[in-house]
Amino acid sequence: MGRDHDPPTALLRRRPVSAKRTLSVPGIAYGGDYNPEQWLEEVWAEDMRLMREAGVTMVSVGIFSWALLEPSEGSYDFSRMDRLLGLLHENGIAADLATPTAAPPAWFFRAHPEALPVDRDGRTLSYGSRQTFCPSSPAYRTAALRIAGALAERYADHPAVAMWHIHNEYGCHNAQCYCDTSAESFRRWLRARYGDDLAALNHAWGTTFWSQWYYDWDEILPPRATGAVPNPTHQLDWRRFCSDELLSLCTAEREVLAAAAPDIPATTNFMVMQNFDALDYWRWAPELDVVSNDHYLMSADPASEIDVAMSGDLVRSLAGGPWLLMEHSTGAVNWQPVNRAKRPGELRRNALAHVAHGADGIAYFQWRASKAGAEQWHSAMLPHSGTDSRIWRDVVRLGADLKALAEVRGSTGTAEVAVVWDWNARWALELPSQPSAELRFQDLVRSWYEPLWREGVAVDFVRPDADLSPYRLVLVPSLYLVDDEGTANLTGFAERGGTLAIGFHSGAVDENAHVRLGGYPGAFRQALGVRSDELFPLLPGEQVPLSGGGTALLWSERVRLEGAEAVTSYEDGPLKGVPAVTRHSYGEGTTWYLATHPDPATLASLLTRIRTEAGVAPVRTAPEGVEVVRRRGSSADYLFVIDHTGRGAEVTVADGAVELLTGKPVPGTVTVAPGEVAVVREPRER
Ligand code: GAL
Repeated sequence: MGRDHDPPTALLRRRPVSAKRTLSVPGIAYGGDYNPEQWLEEVWAEDMRLMREAGVTMVSVGIFSWALLEPSEGSYDFSRMDRLLGLLHENGIAADLATPTAAPPAWFFRAHPEALPVDRDGRTLSYGSRQTFCPSSPAYRTAALRIAGALAERYADHPAVAMWHIHNEYGCHNAQCYCDTSAESFRRWLRARYGDDLAALNHAWGTTFWSQWYYDWDEILPPRATGAVPNPTHQLDWRRFCSDELLSLCTAEREVLAAAAPDIPATTNFMVMQNFDALDYWRWAPELDVVSNDHYLMSADPASEIDVAMSGDLVRSLAGGPWLLMEHSTGAVNWQPVNRAKRPGELRRNALAHVAHGADGIAYFQWRASKAGAEQWHSAMLPHSGTDSRIWRDVVRLGADLKALAEVRGSTGTAEVAVVWDWNARWALELPSQPSAELRFQDLVRSWYEPLWREGVAVDFVRPDADLSPYRLVLVPSLYLVDDEGTANLTGFAERGGTLAIGFHSGAVDENAHVRLGGYPGAFRQALGVRSDELFPLLPGEQVPLSGGGTALLWSERVRLEGAEAVTSYEDGPLKGVPAVTRHSYGEGTTWYLATHPDPATLASLLTRIRTEAGVAPVRTAPEGVEVVRRRGSSADYLFVIDHTGRGAEVTVADGAVELLTGKPVPGTVTVAPGEVAVVREPRER
């Protein structure tokens, strides 16, 4: 059962940036997912009137319309979509037209039951929800490209269509399928990765362990449920394959769309937070004209405004500039154990914070709250209660705000601090049979990001092999896996005068997840001037006092100084007197090793010291909890001041400053009312 698509290595070819198409919708685009097929057409006229009232400029349509667009294989009914796009165009609203490939119709699965996904335990899942297909299924690929092609042919020249929305949240529900077809595809991917050399795979996977040596490619399976722990490198390559497999579907759709409509930009909505880790978005972002992201607050997060900021910074970094917020919520979602509504003003603070962190468009799931279906209890721009509601009033106000921010479009970030983020390291860290199962990549990064956010320090995210020359300080909260190139790039940054701070259990393994021998933290030992000979992870709740005050959590190791100085040491336990945090002069620069996870206050004061010594200052002085973010335009800076304290604030601004949401001059100082937001244009000398 061959399948005709690019081998994985071809995915590494970057599309030249000049080939990227841009979105023609002016200013900061505003809208949401629009699913009018759920309603009688009488309702559509009211939708148009209310969208205009709210200042909506672009909606995503057709995301889940496959069953209506293609009632049976190869026969299409575009009448409803024709009317819808016509109506949007008449009302001056652009369409982000989706390929409906996230939800194949029932007829497809009746004809192709082999396209249903199989889970790790060998259970075949049934259709009846969405995104329940095998990413490697040739029948799915054919059907998806057929409907994408039919839509592209029909609507390539439609004046309403401003962008293609490819699929929806790739991998949200079906990132890993363990069926036989996926197994074949995995083997093809492995053959490309290892140059058809089975011995190379055996060495990379360390298959002499537990008698796992493979003599034939056909012996290799997905890491299905088995008696004990599967081989770590096998699992890691599987995660890489699963990300690439979905990416190959995305790029195949993109090519079909581009063939019919060469000028229309294409996006697909990422999900960089919510603990979703299926896709290596560093590989995905260069393949898209426009990077977009979906972000939802987690009810259990006591400081979700920090999650919003971290998400925005990560997406801006993936995009290398402005991006679109494709989905978030006006209020509660429906998929957490208890779904919290937003507090007064939170809708506005969230949306404008995404803009502050680089979004050039703000959209929601969804326009009108459903009365039926699995998401009937999810908030929307137009709630069940109608326009006499707080949400609707907030939605209308936000539309006016975004209109007033049109000139911010295209401006970008100004960070001097880079935080390393790597999906390979994340996957490897969270494999089973680690020294501690308590380590969560996203939580570790967040714990370092949080104090920087509280101080108002601007941050970019980078790959380990990124160009680090724009930065003074590079932070590596967690990088369990790193290859030699990433190692040389990071340590070279310090050698040339930068400041590099690295968290515990980093540099431990190479790209094949093989331990770097000779002592920990393997790859970074020399640059950090330390060597640990044994790891001592701490039990949940266990705390060890530190000499400078504060406590160590999660992790400790027996560090010996090999050139570095101890900044703080353990005061108790088996490692009493052993350094917990070290500092080292390395080349022209400085390196820091945080060999433990200090409690939040101790970590915060360490990071303040590290960034101050590195010469990094906050964007502007402001009380804690008042978020100040800067976007840089060609002739002005835009200072976003967001009050999360509920007490309001005054912040110093340039003399010629103007507050854009009110249009008023604010020479010298801007005052932000409790829970409110100000966006200040500060003229800049060219
Ligand atoms: C997203 C998805 C939307 C909707 C939303 C609800 O993950 O793309 O279609 O389900 O969640 O929060």
